[in-house]
Amino acid sequence: MSRSIELSASILSADCAHLAASVQSVVQAGIDSLHFDVMDMHYVPNLTFGPMVLDALMPYLEGIEVHVHLMVDPVKPLIKPFIDAGANTLMFHPSTANDPSEIIDHIHALNCKAGLVINPNESLELYQPYLSQLDRWLVMSVYPGFGGQLFIEESLVRLQTARQLLDAVSGECQLEVDGGIGLSNLEKIAQTGVDSVVIGSDLFKQTNKLEAIRAYRKLTSL
Ligand code: DX5
Ligand code: ZN
Repeated sequence: MSRSIELSASILSADCAHLAASVQSVVQAGIDSLHFDVMDMHYVPNLTFGPMVLDALMPYLEGIEVHVHLMVDPVKPLIKPFIDAGANTLMFHPSTANDPSEIIDHIHALNCKAGLVINPNESLELYQPYLSQLDRWLVMSVYPGFGGQLFIEESLVRLQTARQLLDAVSGECQLEVDGGIGLSNLEKIAQTGVDSVVIGSDLFKQTNKLEAIRAYRKLTSL
């Protein structure tokens, strides 16, 4: 039986001078979802997009889901504005909330999916208590803050462990990986059992996005 892995395009490497056109180019080339990276220059040393930008992009995102990766501290004040703007999933880092469970419930109460994000230096087991509540578990394979970084090889083993932890709980939580992914390493990443991969710089640098996505699909069709 073949399993298809979701391809999510990270907006961080899109052409900011022509944002709608740049996003449209990957939507038309066939990505499954948009990964919308939000940075606040506080939780991470970089500053990106707010809900106003997502709201403006929504007409160009018909038919694909938007997963917002919140790298902001505190996270709570931005939950409703991003849901109102059109997000389908909000993912946050647990250290940016007093009570991560409460934030997950708050997101669900607003009819949105909820995800937690784990950094490369955090223990997978610390996330165990939340797994049955989650719709998505995002494993960072770089330290959050910037696009175009090198994939941290130890992430491969972490992803396998994360897969086992998720398989041991009931629920529909999707396992996703983010950072440093592209044509050169996608195949081995797909073999760890992830459900979804985020690709930023490797996709946006390609001149022929249709061909690139065809190649990604080939490498992830197990
Ligand atoms: C890093 C972001 C990632 C990253 C993905 O803080 O969360 O989404 O930009 O971009 P690439 O694929 O270039 O690593
Ligand atoms: Zn991200």
